[in-house]
Amino acid sequence: MSVFRPFLSRVKHLIQCSMTVSENNNIRTFRGVKYDILDPKFEGLSKQKIKRLLKDEQWNEHKDEKRALFRQKEKARKQERKRQIREGLLEASPTKKKLAATSELTNINLVIDCSFNHLMTEREIVSFVKQLGISYGKNKTAPKSTKLSLVSLDDGFKDVLNEKWPSWKNWGEKHVSTTEQSYLDKFEKNDLIYLSADSDNVIQELEEGKAYIIGGIVDKNRHKNLCQDKATKQGIKTAKLPIEDYLNMSTRKVLTVNQVCEILLKWLEVRDWEKAFLSALPGRKLKDVEPVC
Ligand SMILES: C[S@@+](CC[C@H](N)C(=O)[O-])C[C@H]1O[C@@H](n2cnc3c(N)ncnc32)[C@H](O)[C@@H]1O
Repeated sequence: MSVFRPFLSRVKHLIQCSMTVSENNNIRTFRGVKYDILDPKFEGLSKQKIKRLLKDEQWNEHKDEKRALFRQKEKARKQERKRQIREGLLEASPTKKKLAATSELTNINLVIDCSFNHLMTEREIVSFVKQLGISYGKNKTAPKSTKLSLVSLDDGFKDVLNEKWPSWKNWGEKHVSTTEQSYLDKFEKNDLIYLSADSDNVIQELEEGKAYIIGGIVDKNRHKNLCQDKATKQGIKTAKLPIEDYLNMSTRKVLTVNQVCEILLKWLEVRDWEKAFLSALPGRKLKDVEPVC
């Protein structure tokens, strides 16, 4: 018996090791957090969908802390700015009220198509609502503003806005119009141009009297060609922004609703696409960008 004991304990050890290995084979790490791919909640999901689910879970778990941290940083940044202005180190920028009062309204329509809520997750809808708020604010205070309209805005989405961005009810009619109708009911088809990164046409300039539609969706480009296909089916012209003519960008050229809005507003102000891209695109998108010579 004593002859077999070391042998048996070795076998037992090997079995235990193999169990740990096979268990570990199921364990993955996502952003520093371990998860088991055999967890039933991942059943039938693609690798990408699992990542999205985990990302959403991690966000929901830490969102209050993250928001608190962001607010704290913002408060500190604003206090520092006020101090610098007080000490004459920085010039105070004009207030939003003053900017809005001096904003000149052009005859360019900017239309946000709000018909895609059913294609977004809750988090994406929240993101879209924020983008709408930013777009509204930027348009209102831009030196040259557009006739902004939110179309296909149904009751369901109004409820979302009431919950996530209650101050939208104070948005002045002077600065934005909202309707349940589609852009097809509001504008002449010939005047419509659906903006899409998937279009083969490149926009050269914004024309007076035209209506430029932005797809109101946050989808991390899951629904490629969505807006291009929608417009084509409806017989509407499409166009993409002339990013490639001005910048060598290594990152994706699909931009967010507010980025597109800001680029168009900047172009109206300076009539220069390169300046418009450089001023409206965030640092992380411009990290590896070189101007096209
Ligand atoms: C996040 S993108 C939506 C991407 C979506 N998969 C689609 O089919 O357009 C939001 C909207 O911004 C506009 N957009 C984004 N990048 C653009 C680009 N490079 N040129 C023109 N429009 C762009 C489009 O109107 C687009 O629908």
